[in-house]
Amino acid sequence: MSEPAPKPVTASTRLAAVWGSPIRHSASPAMHNTAFAALGLDWRYLACEVAPERLATALEGARVMGFCGVNLTVPHKRLALEMMDELDASARAWGAVNTVVFEAENAEGVWTPVGLLRNIQGPVRMRGYNTDADAIVRSLNEDLHIEPRGARVLLIGAGGAGRAAALRLADEGVATLWLQNRTESKAEELAAEIAERFPAVDVRTGLPDTDVEIILNATSSGLKPEDPLPIDLGAYPLSRADAVYDMIYRPAETPLLRQALESGCRTANGLGMLLYQGAAAFELWTHRPAPIDVMRAALVREVYGSGESR
Ligand SMILES: NC(=O)c1ccc[n+]([C@@H]2O[C@H](COP(=O)([O-])OP(=O)(O)OC[C@H]3O[C@@H](n4cnc5c(N)ncnc54)[C@H](OP(=O)(O)O)[C@@H]3O)[C@@H](O)[C@H]2O)c1
Repeated sequence: MSEPAPKPVTASTRLAAVWGSPIRHSASPAMHNTAFAALGLDWRYLACEVAPERLATALEGARVMGFCGVNLTVPHKRLALEMMDELDASARAWGAVNTVVFEAENAEGVWTPVGLLRNIQGPVRMRGYNTDADAIVRSLNEDLHIEPRGARVLLIGAGGAGRAAALRLADEGVATLWLQNRTESKAEELAAEIAERFPAVDVRTGLPDTDVEIILNATSSGLKPEDPLPIDLGAYPLSRADAVYDMIYRPAETPLLRQALESGCRTANGLGMLLYQGAAAFELWTHRPAPIDVMRAALVREVYGSGESR
C-alpha cells in the first residue's frame, strides 16, 4: 500500500525539528514526517546542524518563529537544561532535555502546546522533557528481552543520553552499575549522584571485574567510520557480556556491535530507542496517539533501505 502524500507546505504548516552536531545521520525526519502524513497532519519535521554555542540563539529563533517542538541530540541535551523556562519532571529526574515543547496561553489562560493553538498570542515558553530514559528501558526489553531489575550493567558514556540511561536504570533497580566515560570525572559525578539517590544500587566507576548481563554504549563514538571503539577490549572482552546495546542506529551495525556479534553476544542498535523517544515527543507536540507501526516502518526503511531490520 502506498504512503499517504504529505500535505503541501503552506504558511500554516506547523514546524518541528531535531538539532544536533553532527546531525546528518538523523533518521528522525523520516520517522516524524511519515507519521504526520499518515495522520493527515499539516506538519513538517526538519533536521538542522546547530553548534552548541548557538543552541540558545536557535531556541530563541524557534520560539519567535512559532515552532511547535524541537528534539535535541548530541551535544545539546545537558546544555538545554539551563535554557528552558520550565522543566518537566522527566527532565529534572533524568538530568537532560531531548524534547522541547513550545507553549502559549490559550483563550482561558492555560499554557498549551503551540501545536494545538490556532493563534499564538502573548509570550511563548519552552518546556523541556526527557523521553529518552523510558525509551531505552522499553527498547532493552523489546529488542534484547532484558529486564533491568537485578542486572549487572556496564554503561559507557556520561553525556546527556548516558546520564539519563544510568539514572533510569538505577531507578529500575539494577543490581550493579559500572559507569565508564572518556572524561572520568563525569562518570564519578554521575556515580555519586546515583549513590545518593538510589542507595540500593551498587554503583562503581571503571570496568567490571566480573561478567555482566549487558554493555550499553551511550557515547557518540561509532557515529563516524574513523571513531575508535568506545571500550578497550584488551581490558574488558565483549565475551564477558550476554548482550551489547549501542544507542547509535546509523550505522546500523557499528564496529562495537560487529565485534559483539563475533564474541557471541546478543546485540541491538538504538533504533528502538529512537522510535520510542520519538513517539513520546510526537504525542507531547500533537496530543495525538503516535502511529508506532508507521514510525517503525519508516525508520527501518530509512536505516536499512528495505523492510528488513537485519
Ligand atoms: N537511539 C536513540 O534514540 C538515541 C538517543 C539519544 C542518544 N543517542 C546516541 O547516544 C550517543 C550519545 O548522545 P548524547 O546526547 O549523550 O551526546 P553527548 O551529551 O554529547 O555525550 C557524548 C558522550 O560520548 C562520549 N564520547 C564522545 N566521543 C568519544 C570517543 N571518541 N571515545 C569515547 N567516548 C566518546 C563523551 O565522553 P566525554 O564526556 O569524555 O566527552 C560523552 O560521554 C550519540 O551517539 C547519540 O546519537 C541515541
